[in-house]
Amino acid sequence: MSLSIAVARETVPGEHRTSLVPETAKKFAGLGATLRMEQSAGTESHFLDSDYPGVELVDGIGQAYGGSQLILRVTPPSPEEIAALPEGSVLIGLLKPFESKERLAALNARKITAFALELLPRISRAQSMDALSSQGACAGYQCGLIAAARCTKFFPMLTTAAGTIRPARVLVIGAGVAGLQAIATCKRLGAMVEAYDVRAAAREQIESLGAKFVDTGVHADGTGGYARELTAEEKAAQAEKLAKAVALSDVVITTAAIPGKKAPTIITRDMVGRMKYGAIIVDMAAESGGNCELTQPGEHVIANDVNIHGPLNLPSRMPTHASELYAKNLYNFLSPWIKDGQLNFDWEDEVLAGTVLCRNGQTVHATVKQVLGEN
Ligand code: NAI
Repeated sequence: MSLSIAVARETVPGEHRTSLVPETAKKFAGLGATLRMEQSAGTESHFLDSDYPGVELVDGIGQAYGGSQLILRVTPPSPEEIAALPEGSVLIGLLKPFESKERLAALNARKITAFALELLPRISRAQSMDALSSQGACAGYQCGLIAAARCTKFFPMLTTAAGTIRPARVLVIGAGVAGLQAIATCKRLGAMVEAYDVRAAAREQIESLGAKFVDTGVHADGTGGYARELTAEEKAAQAEKLAKAVALSDVVITTAAIPGKKAPTIITRDMVGRMKYGAIIVDMAAESGGNCELTQPGEHVIANDVNIHGPLNLPSRMPTHASELYAKNLYNFLSPWIKDGQLNFDWEDEVLAGTVLCRNGQTVHATVKQVLGEN
């Protein structure tokens, strides 16, 4: 029997992406897999059912998942969706591995082999599978656009008959994948861009995009290419240096994150109080607690005439391209293990072993176990 792959509609409110696009459906079929999809699963990303020839279209999640071996998702499954997963099946998605012990227990109870793409090792070989990067690029681009659309100033310098307009001044805090895309987007729109990150490598990347690096003297490289949490002294030193740059900016975009932890608070209430009237903060870290003390997830709040935006699920605002990239990440992750319509994993493989969250009824990822206190 050939590998059966299933996709259902994403049910989280506001989620418009899909995990299977016509191009990847064709490629999976080319590897000998059979595909089943709940009707309209791609519609919100603007892929119609008729764009998926060769995929069996079914009614409802029960029919989609029933008897399938490999389930593709964007978001973590709800308790009802977990109940619909066939026991012993393989699940892959952005599963928010640090979020819920209960969800992990439910997956383990059904002996699901679950891959959480957030855990993918950041190594060169895995770049084509890196969903955090592909979706981070979408999020950073959206942050730049939100900032430009909400700003009461032009981003570019303009020379007009009525006089010259100075370009808007943008500060990007956190220059990972999303931050770099935000910098590039704001630069393309003509803004004067400065940026800051605690990782030493970020300086060169910021400067290569034509932005100015704000040097606070605080460096905090952690493991796996990520930043580590700052000590209290480092936080104080960072705040002092950054406060000046924040106060001079028309727009501040924040993207700072530490994997598995609450986002660091970088812009305090006091710093907001010293910002220009009418300035904007777009806090991409809103989902994980926010980089600004006053951010409300999913809300637009105004404090001291500063507009603070805490947008959620930014990649879902551009679901066509976000889904295309995400579905390709899934295909690139899975395709090496599908031969002649059969799925066979090599558990010695560094990428597989690093990404697997639970298997054989147990949580196996060491960091997740540690963070959730399962050790
Ligand atoms: P992330 O989403 O975990 O964090 C965003 C940024 O916030 C990071 O650049 C981080 O250094 C920064 N940050 C954390 N705390 C901060 C603070 N207190 N103040 C200022 N900035 C702070 O990061 P992302 O975008 O997932 O990338 C993390 C790293 O992984 C980067 O070095 C990136 O270049 C690398 N990477 C490597 C890949 C590969 O080789 N396959 C693929 C993608 C990323």
